[in-house]
Amino acid sequence: ASAQIGVTGLAVMGRNLARNFARHGYTVALHNRTAARTRALVEEFGDEGSFVPTETAEDFVAALEKPRRLMIMVKAGDATDAVIDEFAPLLESGDMIIDGGNAHFLDTRRREKALRERGIHFVGSGVSGGEEGALHGPAVMPGGSAESYAVLGPMLEAISAKVDGEPCCTHIGTDGAGHFVKMVHNGIEYADMQLIAEAYDLLRHVAGYTPAQIADVFRVWNKGRLNSYLIEITAEILAHTDAGTDKPFVDIVRDAAEQKGTGRWTVQTALDLGSPVTAIAQATFARVASSRTALREAYRPLAGGTEHPLRPHEAERYVATVEHALYASKVIAYDQGWTMIRDAAEEYGWDIDLGNVAAIWRGGCIIRAAFLDRIRAAYNTDATLPSLLSEPEFADEITKAQVPWREVIAAATRRGIPVPAFSSALAYYDTLRAERLPAALIQGQRDFFGAHTYRRTDREGTFHTLWAEPGQPEVEA
Ligand code: 6PG
Repeated sequence: ASAQIGVTGLAVMGRNLARNFARHGYTVALHNRTAARTRALVEEFGDEGSFVPTETAEDFVAALEKPRRLMIMVKAGDATDAVIDEFAPLLESGDMIIDGGNAHFLDTRRREKALRERGIHFVGSGVSGGEEGALHGPAVMPGGSAESYAVLGPMLEAISAKVDGEPCCTHIGTDGAGHFVKMVHNGIEYADMQLIAEAYDLLRHVAGYTPAQIADVFRVWNKGRLNSYLIEITAEILAHTDAGTDKPFVDIVRDAAEQKGTGRWTVQTALDLGSPVTAIAQATFARVASSRTALREAYRPLAGGTEHPLRPHEAERYVATVEHALYASKVIAYDQGWTMIRDAAEEYGWDIDLGNVAAIWRGGCIIRAAFLDRIRAAYNTDATLPSLLSEPEFADEITKAQVPWREVIAAATRRGIPVPAFSSALAYYDTLRAERLPAALIQGQRDFFGAHTYRRTDREGTFHTLWAEPGQPEVEA
């Protein structure tokens, strides 16, 4: 037994993580359902470090140092359970199984509990950054016991991305906390992508810019407060020309956005937790709506807004306006994500350091962005911050952005250009800012038709109005 870590499941993510461990000096045991993949890895990359290829589950487990650290990189769902069922009987108390896939956090909680009862640590760990990240340094979000992190943490930190010398890996919290936080990362990723897509759409159809011109705008934005991986790759995609047709690449791709489901999980979970992640939800629904071909065909003939692109001198000012709208909406989307993490921490008893979440997302992951430094600083100054907008600098920026933000949404609406994420972010801002909400009327309606009762602004208690009786008297419920 000589391997410090074993990886089973050698598709692209597993293979690259295994290579990453080996490149950091760890001896890595390899296993895959079909042995050809294992052999191919060693043939191609064997000189990158020390690998122990194995073919059977028994050999794989025997190759691992104790306590054994076994990382599974297979499809979320049944495949993960099957692999756990295969290996768990071969393990001993104190051994660790790390699930680096995009598992649902409730599955992780269930698996962690079952394995804990057998003395095995189960570490559900979010890994973000795609194949490149897996090889060169992902953001890693491990859950599981603090005890397992003491042993495993240094290895995961070693292979993670680094920002200013700090690893993009921290113990998020117990049981499913790591996978939960990864799920919210993906929800924010959906929102960020949709917001960027809406900004592109506006620059194209309101400002009348070409994709190449918009690529230049994004390059400039990427030097400012919007600096992020997603803005950077968007510029590259928009600048790309399809070789076959010589058309802008964006124009030859079908406009039906797909998903593997982590955004959907975020929204489903948010409803259960009562977390109002409206921008994330709209981004997820926007993907779904884009793919509903028959519905789109039914709506296509219907009337739209008035169309006239801006004149060139107006377009330049407009770009700055869209930047404000994008930035403000982005802050809201991230704020919603953090709110959801806080809600879950309370619900599941996780001790999550919200500043650390921002810190480890500064590098490696898909939503890595310069402004995460400021989110981190905000939570480091005050860990109980109810919202990012309670922090004076963010509040000031959004206050400055709100007029252009409204202008962008109004102009889009007049032209019939959909901006679901921009407008839901603004609606969220206006909802939470409002002195009084029409929720009072909803309570009245509920009481009227269902005697669901209401509370009063001027005294304690629960009340019901006898709507059908003369004089409509109020009774204490
Ligand atoms: C990451 C990504 C990744 C995600 C897909 C996109 O953090 O590296 O979030 O985990 O699964 O890249 O997911 P969709 O297919 O749902 O868009």
